[in-house]
Amino acid sequence: MAPYLKLRQRLSFNRLKYFAAACIFAIITYRYVYRNPALRLWSKPRDAAGNSTLGFQKIVVLSEGPSWRTRGLKAAAKYSGIDLDIPIQPPLTDEMIHAFQKMGPASVPHPSGRGEAKNWLSFLDIIKYIVIQDLESALILEDDVDWDVFIKNSMKLLSDAVREFTWTGKEDRSPYGRSWDLLWIGHCAEPTRNDTRRLLYDDPSALHPGKYIAPHWFPWSREYMDGLTPGKRSVQRGQHTDCSFAIALSRHGAIKVLKFAGKGEDTSFDTRLKNGCKKKDLSCLVVTPELMHHYVPPAEFGHISTVAAANERGSRAEEEEFEHIMGNTPNILRSARCKALFDSTCPGPGQ
Ligand SMILES: *[C@@H]1O[C@H](CO)[C@@H](O)[C@H](O)[C@H]1NC(C)=O
Ligand SMILES: *[C@@H]1O[C@H](CO)[C@@H](O)[C@H](O)[C@H]1NC(C)=O
Repeated sequence: MAPYLKLRQRLSFNRLKYFAAACIFAIITYRYVYRNPALRLWSKPRDAAGNSTLGFQKIVVLSEGPSWRTRGLKAAAKYSGIDLDIPIQPPLTDEMIHAFQKMGPASVPHPSGRGEAKNWLSFLDIIKYIVIQDLESALILEDDVDWDVFIKNSMKLLSDAVREFTWTGKEDRSPYGRSWDLLWIGHCAEPTRNDTRRLLYDDPSALHPGKYIAPHWFPWSREYMDGLTPGKRSVQRGQHTDCSFAIALSRHGAIKVLKFAGKGEDTSFDTRLKNGCKKKDLSCLVVTPELMHHYVPPAEFGHISTVAAANERGSRAEEEEFEHIMGNTPNILRSARCKALFDSTCPGPGQ
């Protein structure tokens, strides 16, 4: 081989070495700077709200065990890129449920049925699970809950809105600030009026308020949607929020709720929270219309909530049958469950 060629080979080998070193350096820099959240100075707090736990440290699911509810929920979560933790629900004795129904003085309201007491105690158990792990924040979902296919985008918009509404400073990088015990994301009623201190913001996934479906026991809730138009939501302090479909708790919020709701003294867990928010025993933020709502199986099978089932109201639906027939989710424009299970958006009634 001519010496000239040898020289060229050596030169290109040297170049290769430099190139390889540069690549290794780039990979290390990427791993340490880009992947390390503390160093991601150019990322916005809202970006975390679009992560696989929607900006909370964990998403935990209140569930009595595998059923159509959890199967649909897991499918929706997979479709949306969401990580769920579905812990095993510890057993409750009849004696415990009975004692809880009777707790507190006679002058205060008590859980209205066995189902309400059982559901309440299960909520307390899952909140203890959050406290034991010392989570910074956690989102609790009921296992029949559903959301829009664009939920991650909605959570980012909510992050901006909550931070602005609570005057969160730039130095606080948390996606939703720290001025709340409870962030009510999935509910079935919350009045919002012109005289409410609130922040209206744009979210294309918000439905037409005229088509809002109110539960039959709160028909008034759709009457108080002042200023909301299609594509607009509001963030405000909790005034009269009902249904615990999806509730996020901060670390201190979880402890406060255990103390506040751990003594019974109301008709159901969500009513206890509603009254705590109203009277400022708890610091609550609510988004309206809600970002999560429970999925309703096809009407011919009837919807049986776990609370109603525990109260022995309604008969057991034929699960295997209705799992193959599309239901719908009120107030959610493009249902993630329906997308994942039926490749449809399941327009709810009136949508
Ligand atoms: C999502 O963001 C939150 C808030 O920054 C964080 O606590 C959580 O660990 C993140 N989730 C994942 C899966 O990284
Ligand atoms: C609330 O304010 C909006 C916009 O200013 C107005 O259109 C609406 O009529 C008001 N509603 C009530 C009930 O005052």
